[in-house]
Amino acid sequence: MKIEGGHTLNGTVTISGAKNLALPAMVATLLTDQPIILHNVPDLADVHSLLALLEHLGCSYSFENRTLTMCTKNIVTTEAPYDFVRKMRASILCLSPLVARCGSAEVSLPGGCAIGLRGVDLHIRTLVLMGAEVSIEDGLIKTNAPNGLTGCEIEFPKVTVTGTENALMAAVLAKGTTCLMNVAIEPEVTEFAKLLNLMGAKITGIGTSTLEIEGVDKLHGAEFEIIPDRIEAGTYAIAASATHGSIFLKNCLYEHLQYFFTVLQQTGANVTKQADGVLVSNGNGIIQPYCIYTAPYPAFPTDLQAQYTVLMCLCNGTASVTENIFENRFMHIQELMRMGARIYIDGKTARIVGVPSLKGAPVMATDLRASVALILAGLVAEGTTTVHRLYHIDRGYENIDDKLRACGAVLERTKQ
Ligand code: EPZ
Repeated sequence: MKIEGGHTLNGTVTISGAKNLALPAMVATLLTDQPIILHNVPDLADVHSLLALLEHLGCSYSFENRTLTMCTKNIVTTEAPYDFVRKMRASILCLSPLVARCGSAEVSLPGGCAIGLRGVDLHIRTLVLMGAEVSIEDGLIKTNAPNGLTGCEIEFPKVTVTGTENALMAAVLAKGTTCLMNVAIEPEVTEFAKLLNLMGAKITGIGTSTLEIEGVDKLHGAEFEIIPDRIEAGTYAIAASATHGSIFLKNCLYEHLQYFFTVLQQTGANVTKQADGVLVSNGNGIIQPYCIYTAPYPAFPTDLQAQYTVLMCLCNGTASVTENIFENRFMHIQELMRMGARIYIDGKTARIVGVPSLKGAPVMATDLRASVALILAGLVAEGTTTVHRLYHIDRGYENIDDKLRACGAVLERTKQ
């Protein structure tokens, strides 16, 4: 993408459905032979990758106008091969429903990813504790539970979003009651638990760190609306602030970004909650430094760390960003330094000395959130920035070119 920097962004961005809720919600089709209808599903590469895997497993679907209707009458295979899983790590979410419904599963180990090791040991641990036999052979997680899964007490040693979602799908059809402690409470996890209850599951404690699930024999179909994507909304909020503009984030739910908006106000932005969204503008044009530490919800989200780092590159002082969730989520930093940013990495912390401006340059995207951070940098830099390997961006940001252009950005996709 070739971006001409220096344009203030003003306008309205309609926030799409949340990718990290759409993905688990789609996998829920494996838990029932009845139809599932999801509304406000974002049209993203990750959604299409997952649809290909679900179809391979036996799901039939129709997807139009952001409504996805799925039905998995029969599961035709319990194997999720590497070719599907390597494209999208969230495929690991198929593990528990396949075991819960068919008694066995062979899901490829997702392998590494740019931002870190991304182990799935906690996903496997849950199934072993619930009575499954698991072995790792030829890169596959081979799981067997011929007598089904049995509920028990499980405390997570660390908070894991998809690990919590996999555990919920293991527990809803298990024999007896399961108690999950230290679970993720991200809005996407809370909403996912509500979907499972809509399908006939018996989950209590939703929204707290301890969930109790009483196993049932079968789940039925449901119709469900995907909430707006808080990470997409936060990304455009930073775009407004960094370009000294004003963007109305239509459909954004303020309460899902409570802490993030508080931080943004500390940097000098004006954040106004309205009936059908949130208005974000840069107050007096000065960006104040404010230190952040990423942590599980409701703390500062790791998925907004790279974007926030760009904002701090232009701050009126020195700020620090500490990444506590992933061990390698600073790859955008060396690219930003090529654009004139002054950043010093010290372990988990990046110390940022604000500069008056960034300079456009050719840069390379490495992962989804790093890609969008480099686009934000291009929007505020002097001159032209070319972001290479942009395929990452279409995994998580629906129509980003049009949404940014509608606010005054000058950019185009080029072939090379
Ligand atoms: C989910 O990933 C999101 N993806 C990620 O969003 C997000 O960054 C992450 O949660 C944290 O909020 C989806 O929901 C599809 P974790 P997930 O399990 O579930 C370690 C994006 O940009 N861990 O909460 O994979 C792990 O390595 C993506 O949209 C284990 O060690 O993240 C990490 O350090 C990126 N063993 C930490 O826990 C396990 O079995 C939190 O990971 C599981 C996780």
